[in-house]
Amino acid sequence: MSPLHVTRTLPEDATEAALRADVRHGLTVSPKWLPPKWFYDARGSELFERITELPEYYPTRAEREILVARSGEIAAASGARTLIELGSGSSEKTRYLIDALAPSAYVPVDVSESALTQAGQALIEERPDLEVHALIADFTAPLAVPATPGPRLVAFLGGTIGNLLPAERAGFLTSVRTLLAPGDGLLLGTDLVKDEEVLVRAYDDAAGVTAAFNKNVLAVVDRELGADFDPDAFDHVALWDPEREWIEMRLRSRTAQTVKVPALDLAVDFAAGEELRTEVSAKFRKEKVAAELSAAGLELTRWWTDAEDRYALSLSVVR
Ligand code: SAH
Ligand code: TRP
Repeated sequence: MSPLHVTRTLPEDATEAALRADVRHGLTVSPKWLPPKWFYDARGSELFERITELPEYYPTRAEREILVARSGEIAAASGARTLIELGSGSSEKTRYLIDALAPSAYVPVDVSESALTQAGQALIEERPDLEVHALIADFTAPLAVPATPGPRLVAFLGGTIGNLLPAERAGFLTSVRTLLAPGDGLLLGTDLVKDEEVLVRAYDDAAGVTAAFNKNVLAVVDRELGADFDPDAFDHVALWDPEREWIEMRLRSRTAQTVKVPALDLAVDFAAGEELRTEVSAKFRKEKVAAELSAAGLELTRWWTDAEDRYALSLSVVR
């Protein structure tokens, strides 16, 4: 068994500085917002894993269905010897891909150190021949990927691309393109536009797990910056925006209140009913995915969906 290699590309104090900058900016603009990468501390990662098991949250099951059916085809089309996965989380569904590809190296990239080390440790125990180079990194910043053998397949699963805003998405795809050489590929998971009711329920489940996940970002700000957010003083809100075709997650202040953030020397007023935006989850159509890939210099070559056309995996190559 080769040891688990873990590389932190951002020093801990840089992460802390980034959180401070995001919170200061986000809580002093109108409307207020916090970027989604701060959801994923150890508790956030655990709550996300519970979301993936909810009856209402279909994307994980739909993506797994496609991977079970198509990993052989994906492996044959890509022939990759290194699999890089962005936002890998638990790497749970990735196992189908790893088994089909049998790569010599797997490079999971995530901001959640706890998710990354748990997944990496389990993988090296299950697959002693696999070299795992875990990268604690922000995939929206330029990535320094270890020198492992090509061709490379970059996987970005879970519909996480939908959590980036359109301009961020364009920049992200362009920077992924720079990681790819001719013969490399991008495997992208995108949730598809569908019935509003099905979409909203996936982000507002009956058991309240998504609400707890959304509110966890407040607990992160409390712990890291000494703030006094009371998660119970906010309601979880999930809305479908039919123009932008995305789900928007917000936290709505139940009452007029002032929240203190001592580390930033900041007092933040919330009006009763005022909403703090936390995340979007964009839903796609095939033409839009192809167009955005094309704008980044990538060509969509394969498109697979689940039996109910809820979710798609696409493979694209350098144009
Ligand atoms: N791929 C997994 C997890 C999806 S959840 C699945 O399909 O189930 C999104 C994952 O992306 C989380 O593990 C989160 O920690 C990670 N993440 C979110 N923003 C990130 C960023 N900016 N840089 C790196 N990882 C990020
Ligand atoms: N990538 C996931 C998605 O957009 C992340 C996610 C699922 C999420 N449920 C959430 C983010 C609830 C915030 C709140 O489907």
